[in-house]
Amino acid sequence: MTPLRRKIVAGTALAGSACALVALATGIFRPAAVSASRPIVIKFSHVVADETPKGAAALYFKRLVEERTQRGVLVQVYPNSELYKDKEELEALQLGSVQMVAPSLAKLGPLGIGEFELFDLPFLFDGYASLHRVTDGPVGRQLMARLDEVGLLGLAFWDNGFKEMSADRPLVVPADFRGLRMRIQSSEVLDAQMRALGAIPDAMALSDVYAALASGVVNGTENVASNFLTQKMYEVQAFLTLSDHGYLGYVVVVNQTFWNQLPGSVRSVLDEAMKDATRFANDIAKSENDAALDRVRKEGKTQIIELSPQQREAWRAALSSVHEGFQRRVGKRLLEDAYRAIGSGRTEARRS
Ligand code: LMR
Repeated sequence: MTPLRRKIVAGTALAGSACALVALATGIFRPAAVSASRPIVIKFSHVVADETPKGAAALYFKRLVEERTQRGVLVQVYPNSELYKDKEELEALQLGSVQMVAPSLAKLGPLGIGEFELFDLPFLFDGYASLHRVTDGPVGRQLMARLDEVGLLGLAFWDNGFKEMSADRPLVVPADFRGLRMRIQSSEVLDAQMRALGAIPDAMALSDVYAALASGVVNGTENVASNFLTQKMYEVQAFLTLSDHGYLGYVVVVNQTFWNQLPGSVRSVLDEAMKDATRFANDIAKSENDAALDRVRKEGKTQIIELSPQQREAWRAALSSVHEGFQRRVGKRLLEDAYRAIGSGRTEARRS
């Protein structure tokens, strides 16, 4: 059993038994509301490996829900784009083919709610604390409300971490990006980010990235260390710069029609399990990325580049225009509210 799996099992046993007691004591969950012969099935599709913050949290959520409902609700987790790729999983959710997904915040633009791309702005957060002031505050609530317009309900924000840049050549100064074809997620902000660096952005599904890097269709990409490791990008990227220039995180969403037809007692159990799974995801996010980076180092196939404060400042300066462009696209107000929540010092050292 990997250390991460051990954590999921141990955490689940604890939280599960505590909750079962609470449920019994309060009578919140009434098994009679769910027929044992026909359990409710929640298909939870996502695009990353089990051994990542999102993958582990999805499995943790599954265990909590199945224990707390005595398997009256089954959560079937489909990782690694097994069922649907990035764009398809959101369409499948809207059509009711799956009931729960957790896309990265960068992937909601195609649904017409590009405000979530706020999180893609380069050098916006100075670490997890300022990020949480946005997700847990009025800006987060405002964004969650937008999901309503597309028939979805946002249950939680799940952390991942700060992205690094990789390529088939060293990326040290902004000019190093000139002419490189860089894979991005489907976000206009990320498109603008790569263009500001002089690179050519290429939006593609995560499941296509390894082959695109291996064949040279793209020269490089950006991602968190846990995805860089588990998608085996380290095998086909000779250089990784620890830039921490942007954030990658998720919103866990369900189809509203599905949610509204669930018995209230089941919704309560799911809500509680989601709170616990969110705590779990956010607790492991940083350590999982740190551990993944160590593994990449040990694999020895990718040269890891550290930026000096001056070099990092040059990246930040080269990317500052992306903030202005975003303001034109989604409005000054949202951006100002986010800046206010983040507070000063948003360009300082990160990953704390
Ligand atoms: C990516 O496509 O690179 C990420 O959004 C994948 C993920 O879900 O972490």
